[in-house]
Amino acid sequence: MKALVFHGPNDLALEDRPRPVLAQATDAIVRITTTTICGTDLHILKGDVPAIAPGRILGHEGVGIVEEAGADVANFHKGDKVLISLITSCGRCGFCRKGMFSHCIAGGWRLGNGIDGTQAEYVRVPFADTGLYHLPPEADEEAAVMLSCILPTGLECGALNGQVKPGDIVAIVGAGPVGLAALLTAQLYSPAEIIMIDLDDNRLKAALSFGATKAVNSSDGKAAERVMDLTRAAGVDVAIEAVGLSATFDLCQAIIAPGGRIANVGVHGKPAGLHLERLWSANITLTTRLVDAGTTPMLLKMVQSGRLDAKKLVSHRFGLPEILKAYDTFGNAAKERAIKVVIRNAGAEGLN
Ligand SMILES: NC(=O)c1ccc[n+]([C@@H]2O[C@H](COP(=O)([O-])OP(=O)(O)OC[C@H]3O[C@@H](n4cnc5c(N)ncnc54)[C@H](O)[C@@H]3O)[C@@H](O)[C@H]2O)c1
Ligand SMILES: [Zn+2]
Ligand SMILES: [Zn+2]
Repeated sequence: MKALVFHGPNDLALEDRPRPVLAQATDAIVRITTTTICGTDLHILKGDVPAIAPGRILGHEGVGIVEEAGADVANFHKGDKVLISLITSCGRCGFCRKGMFSHCIAGGWRLGNGIDGTQAEYVRVPFADTGLYHLPPEADEEAAVMLSCILPTGLECGALNGQVKPGDIVAIVGAGPVGLAALLTAQLYSPAEIIMIDLDDNRLKAALSFGATKAVNSSDGKAAERVMDLTRAAGVDVAIEAVGLSATFDLCQAIIAPGGRIANVGVHGKPAGLHLERLWSANITLTTRLVDAGTTPMLLKMVQSGRLDAKKLVSHRFGLPEILKAYDTFGNAAKERAIKVVIRNAGAEGLN
């Protein structure tokens, strides 16, 4: 089968690899019909996630059809259309019982990280009963694939960790797919204002059309001043960091109001400073989180009912043979006017 293989920083190739086979009775093999690329894959490519071994098939997002289910898989059968969660969880360990599926002792974020991922024709999904969700045959795959990672991430690591409340002023630093997912899900909690900050005017324009009340282009290095002006020097109640750089984490610290919450979402490859010389007395809360994807069933219902329009995040479509071009487009998002790029498997049945 064709698969996108990571060989080290800035070294990706589309290669022929053997089809995965069942390794445990709780596994399923899924034929991928739709996958996509995450900002985290771009971090991997930059070398920010050094645990990933060369030779790994990337990708932790996908929709497909069950090809084979192990003997101990109870809920999924050959031919079922499924959403693949980025999080693998046994459902039984102490972390799973606490709802911290991302820290499952036998799982966590494994696809496209510790084990081969979804940017391929087939993938092996461990603990299929907890790692897969049923989709109706007519489900829109492009909307559904936004639920593998970015929507639960925006909601759990951003809006929920930031405790967005009615009337809050929220700033989201980073208007990539994850920042935009935080924007869409933060609105479920009725904040008064959402200020979106990015370097990319195209993504900021999208943010305004998705419900942001203000947009700040931070290319001039003056975003903190702009946000303080917009809030009459009060600062923001919630600052969501959705980039993964020390500069954007600094910006969150510069604009947070006393009593505010900074919710870090970005994957950081380098240390970032904590300005306790200023914030020690500011009563702030700082959270970090690897997405647990426990909110996926709820988000799935909202997408299926039409309450959450996930498909509007998709800007570009490619076939699997063009996946390197898809990486190039997503990696040069401002130039290419890209938001989320979707990769379809030509020849796959059940495409819509
Ligand atoms: N915590 C988790 O579980 C989790 C899960 C998924 C993704 N992530 C992380 O979330 C982050 C966002 O993901 P994405 O898919 O949206 O990535 P992305 O690369 O598409 O988007 C990042 C955005 O940040 C903007 N940006 C870059 N430098 C900036 C700066 N100095 N100031 C303002 N904006 C700047 C870019 O223009 C871009 O729009 C990444 O770090 C990703 O790894 C975390
Ligand atoms: Zn992701
Ligand atoms: Zn577990």
